Amino acid sequence: MTSLKDAFGFPVVTAIGSGKGGTGKTLIAVSLAQALAHTGERVLLCDGDLGLANAALHLGLSHSGDMAAVLSGRTTVEKATVPVAGGAGARGGFDLLAAPAGSGVLADAGQQGARQLLISLRMTGYDRVIVDLAAGVDAMVLSLAAGADENLLVMTPDPAALTDTYAFTKRLAKIAVGRRPSLLVNMAVGEQEGRRASGALIASARTFLKLEPDYLGFVPRDPHAMVAVKRQTPLMTLYPQSAAAKAISDIAERLKARSSAAKAAAKRAQAR
Ligand SMILES: Nc1ncnc2c1ncn2[C@@H]1O[C@H](COP(=O)(O)OP(=O)(O)OP(=O)(O)O)[C@@H](O)[C@H]1O
Ligand SMILES: [Mg+2]
Repeated sequence: MTSLKDAFGFPVVTAIGSGKGGTGKTLIAVSLAQALAHTGERVLLCDGDLGLANAALHLGLSHSGDMAAVLSGRTTVEKATVPVAGGAGARGGFDLLAAPAGSGVLADAGQQGARQLLISLRMTGYDRVIVDLAAGVDAMVLSLAAGADENLLVMTPDPAALTDTYAFTKRLAKIAVGRRPSLLVNMAVGEQEGRRASGALIASARTFLKLEPDYLGFVPRDPHAMVAVKRQTPLMTLYPQSAAAKAISDIAERLKARSSAAKAAAKRAQAR
């Protein structure tokens, strides 16, 4: 199989955000990393949370990589990561880059640090880098989101999630002009609720931002997801057959197809 790296020469950077806390960004980021690794991609998960080391908590890791050393230029990304589930290259495994919980390393680095981090991430040999963003719409979150190649919005059917995800999309659209984000609805009861919630966001974005987020599907509210987080074990490892895990695998396939199409278009445009 030809990987994205082989085809395009650099990793695709996918930033996962929502503007709102607790929508499931980290659960989706970790699970997508595993699902994409299952399709043969070499994946790095980068914890973009400002010092809370969200992903490491989900994974039950005490050591989560040395982002400070990367930001100060003391080491390369590849040397600063820790392997998860066998590491990148293993079936379902990926690498993690984070800063220790509470260190505030990324927050202290500021927007210049965010830019430097993205440059370092692009110089790696991964097929894909997934950046798990913090909640909120502060400058740091937006720098990382805008500096990525693509954005995945994770909202829930909760009306507050709609408002916050819209605010995030609006701020992002001002910096990443013309970029069309992908969208998923997490913790939906079923397809209808996913369609209704995504439809409301898409309608607002279309009317006020002249932008049409690409709906990739919904992830059901699933008790297995809660147990996985409590047990600090990835959902795909603990319950690969659960409804949430299956939905995330389907979304990973769609995201992958979308990334490939976008990169192919960029390559054609470059060749002209
Ligand atoms: N599909 C789901 N079904 C049931 N519970 C879920 C689902 N997705 C996430 N959760 C639960 O929601 C909680 C929040 O998830 P998570 O930490 O991934 O959110 P987050 O958006 O990363 O939060 P933060 O903004 O604090 O970083 C977790 O405890 C998890 O158990
Ligand atoms: Mg999180």
